[in-house]
This record gives sequence, structure tokens and C-alpha cells, in this order.
Amino acid sequence: MRLSLNVDHVATLRNARGEAQPDPVTFALMAEQYGVDGIVVHLREDRRHINERDVRLLRELLTTKLDLEMSTDEVIVKIACDVQPELATLVPEKRQELTTEGGLNVLDNLEKIKNTIIKLHECDIPVSIFIEPDIDQIDAAAEIGADFIEVHTGTFANAVSESEIFDELERIQLGARHAKKIGLGVNAGHGLNYLNIKEIRNISEIDEVSIGQSIIARSIFVGVDQAVKEMIELIKK
Ligand code: PXP
Repeated sequence: MRLSLNVDHVATLRNARGEAQPDPVTFALMAEQYGVDGIVVHLREDRRHINERDVRLLRELLTTKLDLEMSTDEVIVKIACDVQPELATLVPEKRQELTTEGGLNVLDNLEKIKNTIIKLHECDIPVSIFIEPDIDQIDAAAEIGADFIEVHTGTFANAVSESEIFDELERIQLGARHAKKIGLGVNAGHGLNYLNIKEIRNISEIDEVSIGQSIIARSIFVGVDQAVKEMIELIKK
């Protein structure tokens, strides 16, 4: 299982004062040195954290890979084609949300998502769709040409009772297995932390996890080096 680090919240902190620090690009480069397999950023339409300068600098400086999370907005698609990330992950985007609240509803937005995938493929960018571990959604993602899915793990991460956690884990495992069987690459993310990763790492069909908040929060206390290395150690166990 590989680890991609989402550095959006470093940019959130930077933007809180409208100044230059902490710089998400510097954070990403340090995390690469400490062993992450890739960097994820979400270039939102409202630019509330990551901005175009960050994306372009990351493109220039990263030695691993860049996963650009994005909506189906045409302006963002143009930027993606220009920047050429190794992966574009389509996510739902609402202005009022604090963070991405759930997977994209592929079935309800089939044409729009399919057209975006076609445009990104014309630019030679592989596409992932962030979705719920739901068999119909996964089949729809494959039918419209997605190369990967990213399974939304947020419901699992927020689950409290043992039965709810068990059910969610099973849903994620079945979804990941099905996606693999029909030829999709499988990533997973949202709400993963140093405790709940122990259950996700056992799902062998998941190729890569995308984690942001928990690693960035921990790095404030123990430093980027230790925060990244601790998570890698847990994932590889
Ligand atoms: N994957 C996707 C699609 C996301 O939108 C996010 C949050 O930006 C993450 C993964 C990372 O989630 P977290 O910050 O909770 O680790």
C-alpha cells in the first residue's frame, strides 16, 4: 500500500494570515524526502487553500507524483491539462462545505463526468473518481472510462459503534474487491488517521491511501519527519 499526502491544510494555515508561511510546497518536498509516494492537492474553484502557484510549483519540483483533486469545472480542467498531474481525482465540490463531504454521485452526473474524463484523457491524464464503495457507482465509474476510483472512507472514519465500523469496513472491502475485479485501480481516503489506518491497511485491494489532516495535525507536535515516518511504518506493517 502506498501513501499519498494531501497538503491542503498547510495552505489553509498559510492563508489564515494571508502571508507566505507555512508553505505547502516546502511541506510537500520535505514529506517526499521522508518517504511519501505522492502529493495530493485540491485546487478548489474558490481557491480557499491551494492556489495555482502551489500547483505549478509542485509540478515543477516534485520527484514522486502529483494527484490533482478537482471538480468538473472547465477552467480547472484547462489548468489540469496545462499542469499535467500524474493523476486527476474528480471530487464533488460545494462552496459551503468545510471539507469534501462524500463521494461523487456518478450515476446522477453521468454525462458531465464522462465528458470531463474524455477531456482529461485527451490531455493524457489518468482519471480517478472519488466515490462511495457502492457497486452501482463503481460500475458506472468504469463504464464512463475512469482508470481508478478513490473509495470514500469518511463514513467508516466517523463510525462509532462496533457494528457500524464492521459494516463500513465490509462495504469498503467489497467495493475495493469489485473495482479491482473489473480492472480499476483502487485508492482510498478521507478521515484516515494513526488509529483507523490499522483496519484499512489489511484491505489488500487498496493500492494507495490519501491522507491529509491527521498527518499535518501530528506534524505540528512532532515535526514533519516523525509524522510522515510514523504513518508509513503503520501502513507497511
Ligand atoms: N481524499 C479526498 C478525495 C479528499 O477530498 C480528502 C480531503 O481533502 C482526502 C482524501 C484527505 O482527507 P483527510 O484530510 O481527512 O485525510
